Amino acid sequence: LLDLNRTSIFHSPRGSLDLHSMLLDEYQERLFVGGRDLLYSLSLERISDGYREIHWPSTALKIEDCIMKGKDASECANFVRVLHHYNRTHLLTCGTGAFDPLCAFIRVGYHLEEPIFHLESHRSERGRGRCPFDSSSPFVSTLIGGELFAGLYGDYWGRDAALTRSPGRLGHVRTEPDDERLLREPKFVGAHLVPDNEDRADDKVYFFFSERAQEAERGAQALFARVGRLCVNDAGGQRILVNKWTTFLKARLVCSVPGVNGIDTYFDDLEDVFLLHTRDQKNPVIFGLFNTTSTIFRGHAICVYHMSSIRAAFNGPYAHREGPEYHWSLYEGKVPYPRPGSCPSKVNGGRYGTTKDYPDDAVRFARSHPLMYQPIKPAHKKPILVKTDGKYNLKQIAVDRVEAQDGQYDVLFIGTDAGIVLKVITIYNQETESMEEVILEELQIFKDPVPIVSMEISSKRQQLFVGSPAAVAQLRFHQCHLYGSACADCCLARDPYCAWDGVACSRFLPTGTGAQAKRRFRRQDVRHGNAAQQCVGQQFAGDALDKTEEHLAYGIENNSTLLECTPRSLQARVIWFVQKGREARREEVQTDDRVLQVDLGLLFLRVRRSDAGTYICQAVEHGFVHTVRRLVLDVVDERSVRDVFRGD
Ligand SMILES: *[C@@H]1O[C@H](CO)[C@@H](O)[C@H](O)[C@H]1NC(C)=O
Ligand SMILES: *[C@@H]1O[C@H](CO)[C@@H](O)[C@H](O)[C@H]1NC(C)=O
Ligand SMILES: *[C@@H]1O[C@H](CO)[C@@H](O)[C@H](O)[C@H]1NC(C)=O
Ligand SMILES: *[C@@H]1O[C@H](CO)[C@@H](O)[C@H](O)[C@H]1NC(C)=O
Ligand SMILES: *[C@@H]1O[C@H](CO)[C@@H](O)[C@H](O)[C@H]1NC(C)=O
Repeated sequence: LLDLNRTSIFHSPRGSLDLHSMLLDEYQERLFVGGRDLLYSLSLERISDGYREIHWPSTALKIEDCIMKGKDASECANFVRVLHHYNRTHLLTCGTGAFDPLCAFIRVGYHLEEPIFHLESHRSERGRGRCPFDSSSPFVSTLIGGELFAGLYGDYWGRDAALTRSPGRLGHVRTEPDDERLLREPKFVGAHLVPDNEDRADDKVYFFFSERAQEAERGAQALFARVGRLCVNDAGGQRILVNKWTTFLKARLVCSVPGVNGIDTYFDDLEDVFLLHTRDQKNPVIFGLFNTTSTIFRGHAICVYHMSSIRAAFNGPYAHREGPEYHWSLYEGKVPYPRPGSCPSKVNGGRYGTTKDYPDDAVRFARSHPLMYQPIKPAHKKPILVKTDGKYNLKQIAVDRVEAQDGQYDVLFIGTDAGIVLKVITIYNQETESMEEVILEELQIFKDPVPIVSMEISSKRQQLFVGSPAAVAQLRFHQCHLYGSACADCCLARDPYCAWDGVACSRFLPTGTGAQAKRRFRRQDVRHGNAAQQCVGQQFAGDALDKTEEHLAYGIENNSTLLECTPRSLQARVIWFVQKGREARREEVQTDDRVLQVDLGLLFLRVRRSDAGTYICQAVEHGFVHTVRRLVLDVVDERSVRDVFRGD
């Protein structure tokens, strides 16, 4: 990818980075990243060039104090975990500050076309409640109207899990401490503002996390994925729940596949969440990446949720429990007014200007009923993608929506723990109610098998920014010519970004005005990959059998030999044929424990003289067959090889 100029990689000039946060700024064309004692501003044009650095270590006194308290020296540093746009000229940043969090502003922008990146350290303030003490504890945050909403373990010991809003106009508000009904060993994954309507007073912030489930029948240790929700303008209660959320509700996020005997397999461990924004701000599409929690069955799944299903769960019945010893069940009694979870807004009647005016019975009910009864089911009631081959651990997801000739596709970019990004589309078949997954590319971003810990996507620039602990890479979404120089290869790749233009495989853009004439030459069929139909009359592989160049291969008698053949399309199935002698019939190669068909080609463990012949490697995909390679295998004995090298 580096040689192809498809990626560019930024390594910290100081050797180590220890990436903990990333912020994309398409407007200023910068990518901001935070690591251990370091912050960088990188150019989106080419992230390896023209960086700006801020060195932001903890003071010697603080580090000494941290070590004195028994922490390991490696943890007594300033890990930057918060990076948000604060206003037009400043970013807000917070770091763990050697187990004493602090926050500060960074001046950004341009001066005479040179990027500005300057920490206003003289104005730094304490960061407790806004940033964790620990560099590795689960943490999410989002900045709304100058106020920081965070899901964090906010104390020194990392035990006090909370959803908080930092000091601001409405004061510091949080979840009640030590209330296991609200949060129980949560792993925070995402925090996002999603408006419900035009009334800003009705805006809600959604938290995505996993936690130990109270209501699980499988035992108290079961993990469930959750969406939690609160009103942005929640000011807490007046007599009860003072400075505590009065509008917090949560519901279970379900991602499961039906199994035999009606026992479903659940993916409950939420790893990442991505909000795909559409023109309708109120209705982003939500992609969740899940892991199983089973020790027997390992795997990952991606489920898609619509805001309508999420809202339906929050508008539905509450779960209820008589007391700590009871099960959670459906609440069928009277629900107080205003309905718990609703915001003090005009849309809700305008009777209350602040949650402080909510009647005691409504607040009391909210406190004891944080859980919704109905779980949230994904679109089509099943995952769009399930991976159980154990090849990679999936860690991060980002999505780009693309217009292709035959419709709209969501291209998934999935970051693994092995330095690889998978580029995948999934196609839903209405008739069979099944999902077909098409792996378009497996992109090795980092040479080493490092985990991908952060991803940012820019549809505008058609680029993905990928963070590993040690480096940050940028990747272009597509490189169409890699699919080969034939119409069939291009078509079979089924990449919605690419189409055959009559000459080459190139970037496909839905035609606007004036391009009608050109349009006829665009060949693309993402849904079916029907190359036979698309490529009629094109430089077509139907007669390519004779055109495919022959390659020579030698095998040493009784030794192993590999005939290489890897089709460009990852979907293709490979079939090998052999022709022994010019006049002989072409026959399918029979594999056994001596002749194996492997990913890289055809492997002879002990090649015989009788194996000599012409081998034809064909790729079959969607009923379309085309020849990838022709190899003429010659088998020689070891002595003659030795003679050749001796030069006799
Ligand atoms: C690589 O890509 C960058 C930006 O996309 C471009 O400026 C540069 O000229 C390219 N280099 C080569 C060798 O093509
Ligand atoms: C942005 O916020 C910073 C920090 O409070 C402040 O110093 C600066 O003046 C603000 N800039 C604008 C344009 O409001
Ligand atoms: C998924 O779960 C398995 C088993 O619990 C674990 O080994 C693996 O690390 C998890 N994957 C990720 C990406 O955390
Ligand atoms: C196969 O070839 C390798 C390399 O030339 C040689 O070391 C090995 O002994 C050979 N094995 C057999 C079984 O002839
Ligand atoms: C290859 O192996 C066969 C059977 O073991 C043997 O008869 C033959 O002589 C071997 N050929 C060479 C060149 O080693």
